[in-house]
Amino acid sequence: MSHIFEVKGLSKRFGGVQAVHNFNAYVDEGEIVGIIGPNGAGKTTILNLISNIYTPDEGQVILDGKDISNLRRWDIAAAGVARTFQNIRLFDSLSAIENVMTILATTGDHKDEHLRQKAADLMDEFGWTDGKDIDVRGLPYGKKRKLELIRAMALKPKFLMLDEPAAGLNPSEIKQLIAYIDRINKVHNIPIILIEHRLEVVMSLCKRVYVVSFGETIAEGPTEEIWKNPVVVAAYLGEEAEDVTN
Ligand SMILES: Nc1ncnc2c1ncn2[C@@H]1O[C@H](COP(=O)(O)OP(=O)(O)OP(=O)(O)O)[C@@H](O)[C@H]1O
Ligand SMILES: [Mg+2]
Repeated sequence: MSHIFEVKGLSKRFGGVQAVHNFNAYVDEGEIVGIIGPNGAGKTTILNLISNIYTPDEGQVILDGKDISNLRRWDIAAAGVARTFQNIRLFDSLSAIENVMTILATTGDHKDEHLRQKAADLMDEFGWTDGKDIDVRGLPYGKKRKLELIRAMALKPKFLMLDEPAAGLNPSEIKQLIAYIDRINKVHNIPIILIEHRLEVVMSLCKRVYVVSFGETIAEGPTEEIWKNPVVVAAYLGEEAEDVTN
């Protein structure tokens, strides 16, 4: 069976650190798949390898049956792989709506009024009805995260990767985020890889997860059952024990 998205044997070493070792994963049509694991496990590096921000030492990335491993960053986005960043990356000198318009412009339409209307529609869909012209620099954190998500959607992706979208959000923003991610998946029909430390987000959205620790996949399977695996519990307890001593 062919998967909409697949990575095979992804590996990356930074000096003495094997950040990712032989990571294999797939995502099928309609799925939201989680990647979880303690700090420093290699989760962000996996996304950076997929989007070719870092060149993998080994491995293949396949979208819709096509090998996209050797495409440049921008061509990977143009092929339909959109993402958000753990450390938000917006165009700080532009307004909120201009951030969305800039991405829309890359998908073909260059008429300013068309772009503005399309950007406004997309922002409305995600509940951003007022203050579209606000300066991005002054935005509260939760709104910056939302703008990143809207901007990723402006690429009209075939596949979306989210790196800790709930980080720094308050409980009501998290509830909203879960609803938006669910909508992107179900209404826009976009399969998603979701990296997240907030387990309630993973539990609500992902039926299946990969658990990584020190660059290795230590478990994979249905989210509800993953906590029965003592190796997973040990990896998380190890992290907590470290936190207590720090
Ligand atoms: N550009 C880099 N240069 C050197 N080492 C790096 C680089 N990027 C990541 N690493 C190392 O690779 C390992 C994996 O880091 P990564 O950021 O992928 O972890 P993570 O699972 O995303 O962690 P977190 O949950 O804290 O975001 C860490 O040991 C990290 O220090
Ligand atoms: Mg990370």
